[in-house]
Amino acid sequence: MEAPPDRSTTPGRFITFEGGEGAGKSTQVRHLAAKLTAAGVATLATREPGGSAGAEEIRELLVHGAAARWDATAETLLHFAARRDHLVKTVWPALQRGTWVLCDRFADSTRAYQGAGQGGDPAFIEQLYGAVVGDFAPDLTLVLDLPVEVGLARAAARRDGGARYEGMGQAFHQRLREGFLEIARRAPDRCRVIDATASEEAVAAAVWSTVAERLELAP
Ligand SMILES: Nc1ncnc2c1ncn2[C@@H]1O[C@H](COP(=O)(O)OP(=O)(O)OP(=O)(O)O)[C@@H](O)[C@H]1O
Ligand SMILES: [Mg+2]
Repeated sequence: MEAPPDRSTTPGRFITFEGGEGAGKSTQVRHLAAKLTAAGVATLATREPGGSAGAEEIRELLVHGAAARWDATAETLLHFAARRDHLVKTVWPALQRGTWVLCDRFADSTRAYQGAGQGGDPAFIEQLYGAVVGDFAPDLTLVLDLPVEVGLARAAARRDGGARYEGMGQAFHQRLREGFLEIARRAPDRCRVIDATASEEAVAAAVWSTVAERLELAP
């Protein structure tokens, strides 16, 4: 699908999970997908970069290799190329079918990582967003927030490869955290910051009550 479905006539919702390394995004996508499925809601869990065959190939270029492999501009372009493929091949068709789409990272990660973190031009990122994504946006974005050291320790303990971003240094990760919080401050209707230092179950409960409240889903 080259364009998003008409959201006013499709029941599917688009929920994104954002936050730094090890914040618990992938864990919480799994929890919410299980709860929605149990509630009888058709649900698709997906991720960025990736989520379609082409975007998963681009992901390999982004998550492996030296930290300085790409400059912020090249990296932003790669993320938006992957995002376009993911939207066209996976997200928009699923929404068209009425499926709820839960996405592990989306454009706020580009804003935070390539903008706040790597010092890329925010105006360039927004220009690309307009060209590639248009006026499509998440119905709800959950920003999982926790101290940098806690997230990096969790991510290091997990050790599942593809650790390029984890190697970008403490100051980078601090800018990221602040970048995500600033995004949430500027878009309060779309975003909700969730304390990710709590237990997995407590975070899942906070996510669920936010989804219920914001998207009028009976819990
Ligand atoms: N609330 C929590 N408390 C403690 N540990 C947690 C919590 N949530 C997740 N974890 C653990 O922390 C690690 C990182 O979690 P997860 O992979 O979900 O984070 P992520 O945000 O997806 O990380 P990345 O950005 O690296 O993909 C995992 O080993 C997970 O089991
Ligand atoms: Mg993850």
